[in-house]
Amino acid sequence: MSALLQTRGLTLAFGGLVVANGIDFSLEEGERLAVIGQNGAGKTTFINICTGLIRPTAGNVSFAGNDITGQSPRRIVRQGMARSFQLPQLFLEHNVRQCLELAGMARQPRLPFWRPLGRSADAVAVDRVLELVSLREREHEPVSNLPEGQRKLLDVAMSLMLQPRLLIMDEPTSGVSSEEKHGIMEILMRALDEQRVTAIFVEHDVDIVRRYATRVAAWISGGIAADGTPDVVLADPTVQRQVLGI
Ligand SMILES: Nc1ncnc2c1ncn2[C@@H]1O[C@H](COP(=O)(O)OP(=O)(O)OP(=O)(O)O)[C@@H](O)[C@H]1O
Ligand SMILES: [Mg+2]
Repeated sequence: MSALLQTRGLTLAFGGLVVANGIDFSLEEGERLAVIGQNGAGKTTFINICTGLIRPTAGNVSFAGNDITGQSPRRIVRQGMARSFQLPQLFLEHNVRQCLELAGMARQPRLPFWRPLGRSADAVAVDRVLELVSLREREHEPVSNLPEGQRKLLDVAMSLMLQPRLLIMDEPTSGVSSEEKHGIMEILMRALDEQRVTAIFVEHDVDIVRRYATRVAAWISGGIAADGTPDVVLADPTVQRQVLGI
């Protein structure tokens, strides 16, 4: 089976700091990959390169068999790769439903700027995503009123409006209380299962990683130090010492 996402020799440095160290990586359709690593290890940078926000100095990224290196984020989204952000990128002045409508517009090839909000997005798709992430009761709530956990859900829900084949989530539970984290992951994973979306998620909480990942990749200093099943990677002595601090 050919890989859904593949990188070869991905390299990038910020000044003298190497943040991607010739990364070779491959992800198959259907995987649930957790990315772990200390602050500054290069996890977000890797996502930024794959999704077109940053261009690598060497190496390439391919998605569904096509070389997408250096393409714009918008073009990459249209091919089926979406992402959510470490800090949710929301339209605070709008309500939940309007945010989903706006997100849905990104899939459409060309829209006149004057097209009124509310009629331009596919209402059926918005309804479906509201149900999927359990935000139906909040649809008319201004985003600025939502607690952090529901903002995180909404951020991922906006990515689901793009109907991705692959969704990359950068710390979907950061900033959320530990009691709330599992509930959020349950909702997200159920939504991804229903939509048959392959997923990568960056996560610092080992319990969440164990519970929801089928595979773990551990980032150290701009490279992948261990990659395999959660049991194997989380028991790796280097990972325990340098990533988990135990
Ligand atoms: N645009 C930039 N210019 C210069 N340095 C940067 C830039 N973006 C990131 N860095 C640096 O690159 C390194 C990797 O950053 P990155 O955000 O990828 O880490 P991370 O693994 O996602 O960390 P965290 O767990 O804190 O989110 C860090 O030292 C960071 O300060
Ligand atoms: Mg990060």
